[in-house]
Order: sequence, then structure tokens, then C-alpha cells
Amino acid sequence: MLRREGLSKLTGRERYVDDLPLEDFLWGATVRSPSPRGRIAEIRFGGGVDWAEFVVVDHTDIPGRNAVYLMEYDQPALAPGYVRHVHEPVLLLAHPSRETLRRAIPEVEVVVDPDPPILDFRVVPGPEQIQYGSDNVLKRLEIKKGDVERALAEAPFVVEGVYETGAQEHVYLETQGMLAYLDGDVLVLHGSMQCPYYIVKALVPALDRPEELIRVIQAPTGGGFGGKEEFPSTLALHAALLALKSGKTVKVIYDRVEDMVATTKRHPARIRHRTGLDENGRLLAQDIEVILDGGAYVTLTPVVLSRAIIHAAGPYDCEHVRILGRAMFTNMVPFGAFRGFGNPQAHFAIERHMDVIAHRMGIDAIELRRINLIREGGTTATGQVIRDGVDRQAVLSRALELANFEKRRREHWVRNSEHRYLRRGIGAAMVYHGAGFTGSGEVVLASRLHVQGHPDGRVEVLAANIEMGQGTITIFTQIVADRLGYDPDDIVVAEPDTHRVPDSGPTVGSRTVMVVGRLLEVACDDLRRRTGLGAEARGAEVREAIVAWHIEHPEESLLGKARYEPPPGIEWDDEKYRGDAYGTFAWATQVADVEVDLRTYQVRVLDFVSVQEVGKVLNETLARGQIQGGVAQGVSWALLEECVWRDGAMENGQLTNYIIPTTCDLPPIRVEFMEVPYEFGAQGAKGIGELPLVGAAPAVLNAVAAATGREPAEIPLTPERLMVLLASDETRGGPE
Ligand code: MOS
Repeated sequence: MLRREGLSKLTGRERYVDDLPLEDFLWGATVRSPSPRGRIAEIRFGGGVDWAEFVVVDHTDIPGRNAVYLMEYDQPALAPGYVRHVHEPVLLLAHPSRETLRRAIPEVEVVVDPDPPILDFRVVPGPEQIQYGSDNVLKRLEIKKGDVERALAEAPFVVEGVYETGAQEHVYLETQGMLAYLDGDVLVLHGSMQCPYYIVKALVPALDRPEELIRVIQAPTGGGFGGKEEFPSTLALHAALLALKSGKTVKVIYDRVEDMVATTKRHPARIRHRTGLDENGRLLAQDIEVILDGGAYVTLTPVVLSRAIIHAAGPYDCEHVRILGRAMFTNMVPFGAFRGFGNPQAHFAIERHMDVIAHRMGIDAIELRRINLIREGGTTATGQVIRDGVDRQAVLSRALELANFEKRRREHWVRNSEHRYLRRGIGAAMVYHGAGFTGSGEVVLASRLHVQGHPDGRVEVLAANIEMGQGTITIFTQIVADRLGYDPDDIVVAEPDTHRVPDSGPTVGSRTVMVVGRLLEVACDDLRRRTGLGAEARGAEVREAIVAWHIEHPEESLLGKARYEPPPGIEWDDEKYRGDAYGTFAWATQVADVEVDLRTYQVRVLDFVSVQEVGKVLNETLARGQIQGGVAQGVSWALLEECVWRDGAMENGQLTNYIIPTTCDLPPIRVEFMEVPYEFGAQGAKGIGELPLVGAAPAVLNAVAAATGREPAEIPLTPERLMVLLASDETRGGPE
């Protein structure tokens, strides 16, 4: 099936929030903190600006609780006299002219009495820096399996390693944008977002306004990657405050610089591994410590930490595992949701570490993985028994075969010994990813979804899940078409509007197809049943029954309904962090073939292979697109994307020096699927959105290690970092 909204996007007819026609409206903008931490001593409004023309909002204009609520009430919508990060919102301004507004912002001076900030999460803070509790720990989580201390003490080999990953900007094509206006008593928010109901949840307490008087509508959204998961709640709140004070429609659109410097990013991480092995490379003990930079406020950090530690031991079966996770409060811009939610950081560490172990012990890195890969009936770090019928060894084998791994490796050895300055290497990573909310998350979420049969026989999907380029509209149409035997043109996917669609949960965590798509199937069956038909009825028969139903019930709407039910046998203990963390996992092997230029220290990825088992693939083109996009984002995170920080502020907030790849910078990304249908996903599908980002960075760095004989342990591996690494004397032990 072709992408349903493809033509309107391709021809520029799609209307994003900034394209929506508006009359008599104000532009809104944010005045931000210049300082990472301190008391706001004074706010000076400069001369030369007619401030009477402006609507000005500060924290005293907030009718309810001054917080952007999602998990905690800690993050103010507007700083109430104290700031905790650079670019923290302090004041809001609105004016009919965007230009006048732009010129006025620098005329507002926020004077801060500074307190000592924490700008490095890896350093233990001094007493004067402590801002929360006694130790600045935002969240602490632990997983324990077996007796790791004893197993480490008895292990004949112990290999340690420390791995670090940097922040990453989402760089969605469309920057953040939101409209707010009053429609009678109803406050309407219309904009770019992943989670319409998260915005409702944040606005109710802050505006002290009943849910019925808040309506959130998603406008076509140009990418999200997690960056439009929690952040749009802040933006919506700002636009709403300006609209409520002015009584006018207010539009806030961030430009690229503001978007890059002031919104959430991927959490930087430091992960330490201490691994015990026997002589044959069998894992005996994994002692893992994960530390994340949580930034100034909680946002979604606890769930990012959760996903990071759950995946930190990698797709391996080890009897004795201890994983300690901590997220630290700092005075950095809050870090938040980003595709993979901590799992890319976790796998960068374990999959780089597996190659380091192999090199130290003189074992083949692929063989080391084969020995330890979870087998049918084996268990993960949380004790989840894996019995999914997936041949993980075959996933690995197929990727190596496609990449010509052994042949390329031999060719590289020969070539590297002959070439003056080019070094080639090939590396692999084996990864897994649990889709949907963690543990009992989906049960708590209790997603609901409707499909409506219309009097003309058409069927409409009523769901809060959004299209952001990944294909929701197409896949939802396809699922209904298959389930009811319908013509796709007789299926409509409703605009996500909280006054029309039930809360089917956020569009995050690779859950849309697997979890929500399954609800869609259930709702289709319910719709058919309500018209008096059996499960075998399809096409014209269903259509006619829907039309007939409306003739009999002229005043009523025909809704097929579904509500989330957990797959049977799932057990999760949130206290002990043990049990079935996810309904299922998807598996992948990713292989990178690279060339390092010893003159420029640039790494070029020559070829990339990604083989994954993702349950049933519903739409091969879209699925391929997801894999290629995820790989591109992962390769880019590994080699190019660097947030340069100075005094807690991102200095390179523009695409001239925050580098993302063009198509010319990327290798061919060769994608192959293996399919083992997952019984509880739509048509057997598992989640797919996040998985491909997880193994790209370690695969690339393992290839660089093979090319150079060094052990890079930090990303982004920019030419500068590689130069330092290659200049050091440290070569790795053990034979190649
Ligand atoms: Mo998200 S990080 O959009 O699951």
C-alpha cells in the first residue's frame, strides 16, 4: 500500500502548523535564562521598545500549579524566581508582528544571582552544588540476578571497560510549533506533537481547567523521534497562557536555533562493565553501572533509565548479573525521550565491550556472541524467559553472510598492510529491543481505541496515535482493510483530536503497530459483531451491514471498541525489577564496513547491513524506511553529532556546525527481515521504530577498532577524538 498522505507531502499541499491560515493572531516567544543556576534578581525591560504593545506573561499568570506535568511536578512552566538551566523559560511575550517580537526579546534582561551549577554528571558534586536530596540522584534503579560478586571472584577472566555516549539532537525536519485559541470556553491547542493526551494531562493542573475545556489537535507533524513526546506540553502551556491573557489566537513556532538549544536531547551516558568469563568465553558474571545525565528536571528520565538498565546486559544469557542505574540531576537543559529510550546507550556499551573482551581474550568477537546469545528457554537480566521461536543465531549468520564478513575481513587485512593511509575494518553488533511500555506500563496506560462505521458504509479509525512520517495512517488503513476486507479508499483515519478520539496512548516506544494496531483489529471485530455479522464477513457484506444498521438506528453512532488487555502469562515486579519487562523482543544483527583515513581521521562507512527479526512485516517499504532511517540516525550519532557545551549551553545550535549526514555521507543500508509472527501484535507484528538505531553505533565503532587496532570507547567518534585515540600509545592486547 502506498503512503496515504504521501502525495500531499510530496507536492507541498500538506499543512503543518505554521501553514495553517490564521487571521488576527499574535506571535508568541520565550525569554530565557542566560545562566545555568541561580536566583532571578531582576528582570529589566529595555528602552526603545513600546512594551505597552506586548502581552507579557510570567509565572504569576499561571492559574494552577506551575509545572509541566508528566511524571513529576518539578519542572516549572515559567521560572518562579529561580533558574536551573540555561535557556529555561522565564517570561513569555506576544505581539502581532513577528519582527517586532524578535527585536524585543534581547531587550529583556534577566539578571541572575548565580549559584554553583553542576555541568558534568560524571563528577561527584560538592556540597554547595547539591540541589536535590542529599546526593543529586534523580532516579536509582537496580537489577539483580544470581550472585555477581561471588561469580566475579571465581571467574578466571575479568574484563572491564567504560563507555561514554554524548547528547543527541532530534533534528526533526519541522521545528516545534503550536497554536492556542479559545473556541467559546474550550481552549484549543493545535500543533506538532506525538502525544495529544500528554498535553491534556499537563494543562489540566497548570491551568486549573477541567479536561472537557481543553481540546488538543495534532497537526501534520514533520518528524518527532521522541523530541515531540514531552516537550510540546511546555510549548502548549506557553501558547495557552498567552492566549488566555490576550484573548487572541497565539502562534509559537521555534526557529532552528531555539529548537536546538532549548529543547530536550538524548541523555548522555557513562556505562561501566565488569565482566567475568571462563576460558571458553562463556559469560559468568556481568556487573554493570549505568549513569545518565538527567539534566535539570525529571521529564521522562526514569523510563529512559529503566529501558537502559533492562537492556544493558545485551541479548546474552548470563547467570549472575547486577545492573545499577542512576540518573543524575545537573544544570543542563533537560534531557528527554529520544528514539530507543536509553537502549542505544546501553547497547553501545555492551556491544563495544563484547569486542573488547574478544580482543583481550584472543577469541573471535562473533564466536563470543554465539556462545552467549540467549537460547530458546534462556533468560534475560530481569529473569524473563525467552521462548519466542526466533533463531537468533540465524539472524547473526544471515547478517554476516550478507555483509560478506569473513571475506571482507581477510581483504581488509591484506589491504591495510599495503595502503599508506587508509585502514579498513568490519564490525558487528547483536541487539534486542522490547517494544511498548515497560513492565506493567501498558496495563496502567489502558489504551482505548474506536472504529466508527458511518451511514455511507465507510469506516473511520478513532485513535490518538499520530503520523509523524513513520506511516501510522498507512498502516492503520492497511490493518482495517485486511481485517474487514475493505477498499482502502473507504477507510478514514481521524485527525487526532482529544475531543473526538479516545486515548489510545502516546505514539512512542515502537508501540503503534504492535500494541495499538492490535487494538484496531479487536475494534474492527467488535464493529462487525455489533452489526450482527460473524468474524468471516468481509467487504461488501460488512459495508451493507453498516449501512443497514444506520437505517435501523438513525440517531446513533456505530462504534467498535477495544481496550488494552495484557498478553496472558506476563508477570512483572516493579519493586524487584524482575520478570517480563516486555511482551516480546525484536532482534537484530547490524554490520558496518568502514574506512578510516589516517591523514584526516575521518571515518567513512562503506557498507551497512541490518538483518532483523521484527515479527511479521506489514508494509515492507515503510519497514525498510524505518530501518534505514534508524541506521542513519545511529551512524550519525556514532560519528558526527556532537553537542558542544559551554557553561551549560549548547554552543553549536545550528546545522552549519551540528553536523548530520546527507545521503552522500551515508553508506548503502542493506535491509533484510526475518519473520516470526508475534501472536499478540497486529497481524503478528512487533515494534520496529527504535530497534534499528540500537546497534548502529557499536557496529561502526567495532569496525573502527578492527581497522585501527585501538579500542574507541566514546561517541561521537569525531576526527578530533580519533586523532587523540590514535596518537595514544595504547594498542589493544591479544591477537586480532
Ligand atoms: Mo519515543 S523516545 O518517541 O519512544
